Amino acid sequence: MAQLWGGRFTKETDRLVYNFNASIGFDKRMYAQDIKGSVAHVTMLAKQGVLTEAERDEIVKGLQGILADVESGALAVTSEYEDIHSFVEANLIDRIGEVGKKLHTGRSRNDQVALDMKLYTRDQVDELDRLVYDLLKTIHRLMREHKETVMPGFTHLQKAQPITFAHHLGAYFEMFKRDRSRLSDIRRRMNECPLGAGALAGTTYPLDREYTAKLLEFDRATANSIDSVSDRDYLIELLSAMSTMMMHLSRFSEEIIIWNTNEYRFVELDDAYSTGSSIMPQKKNPDIAELVRGKTGRVYGALLSLLTTMKGLPLAYNKDMQEDKELVYDAIDTTKGCLALFTGMIGTMTVRKEVMENSAKGGFTNATDAADYLVTKGVPFRDAHGIVGALVLKCIEKNCSLDDLTLEEYRQASQVFEADIYDAISMETCVNKRLTKGAPGKAAMEAAIRENEAYLESTKPEK
Ligand code: ARG
Repeated sequence: MAQLWGGRFTKETDRLVYNFNASIGFDKRMYAQDIKGSVAHVTMLAKQGVLTEAERDEIVKGLQGILADVESGALAVTSEYEDIHSFVEANLIDRIGEVGKKLHTGRSRNDQVALDMKLYTRDQVDELDRLVYDLLKTIHRLMREHKETVMPGFTHLQKAQPITFAHHLGAYFEMFKRDRSRLSDIRRRMNECPLGAGALAGTTYPLDREYTAKLLEFDRATANSIDSVSDRDYLIELLSAMSTMMMHLSRFSEEIIIWNTNEYRFVELDDAYSTGSSIMPQKKNPDIAELVRGKTGRVYGALLSLLTTMKGLPLAYNKDMQEDKELVYDAIDTTKGCLALFTGMIGTMTVRKEVMENSAKGGFTNATDAADYLVTKGVPFRDAHGIVGALVLKCIEKNCSLDDLTLEEYRQASQVFEADIYDAISMETCVNKRLTKGAPGKAAMEAAIRENEAYLESTKPEK
């Protein structure tokens, strides 16, 4: 048990207490951020004359050695230390001796952990953004390929009106675009440096907090030292943004699961993204889509957990806040994994154009267009609705689609029908007549795809 704070204690910590309290098991993943923050801190301390340049150089060299050794595996982060901060400081002192004890001048683990978590989260926000961007690129490619792939659009999961697959995918393009914009809002708002807040009340050393902030690529130093060590809003915002992302992925997964069934057969998942059954030889299951849908609950859970953890905390730091880490790490890992797998899954699935188009035809999705046809010939809409409703009933009896009725049958329902009804209700006409902005018609879709193209071009993440 290696601790930083033995001085005022007369007894060893109980082993169970020590284990319960320790965070090294999970906060070790922030070793690089902890070291980066320490390097910035001592660089600032030397600039302010709190440390000499020689002391700074020795400490920085020691810290860089620790980083290199952890990275190469030569130095293991073990549970003999309470947390990652103790691990780095203790190892520094082991390596460079007395001068290492000056690292923690004008700093507390409270502002240190606030910094580490922000540095870690900021990188993860960037990675999440890249993954959503890759997903958008795949959706964009599919949209370009399926501008003319007619499918039924649904309401209440009942066939409603004909659309195209590109149009359906375009809805998800908008959702994931908004997800990226939420990530960039979070990044902008969180990008303030808490270091220098000390335990809660700042320090008596002449720290240059703006300088530290600049070294660590923050926009500025945080404004209030109490808030600096007790704010976890940005994690809650991120969990909320990830929950929304997962909700989008989950809805999309649900559709893929439905489309991949033997009943729909709109898509077929690639063998590489499906799994078999141990007993039923015919099965090819959409496990990845189901897992994405299932894991959504986990990310929502993390959001609710952290909100609940924070709700009763008096200012400033409380140990409860250590609970933020496992929740956020797990939610980030989960969301990143789901984004990557989902992108691979839809990028490799087969889209069955004819099945989609036949389904649109078979489901009377052109019934509104048949009624609109009558309206253009002077029949009031309500009457047209009734006439076409009766024709649909006839089709159901005959087990055929509106396109299959003879002109005679049409004219029995209304004398207004003429031979041009067939063209008016063809799937192609039904889709392409819908030309308002955001509609599935080819020209409208081409405009949307061009806009998406420009968006992808102008918002490329830096790799
Ligand atoms: N492991 C702690 C956390 O994650 C680090 C901060 C500890 N600060 C303290 N005063 N005990 O929150």
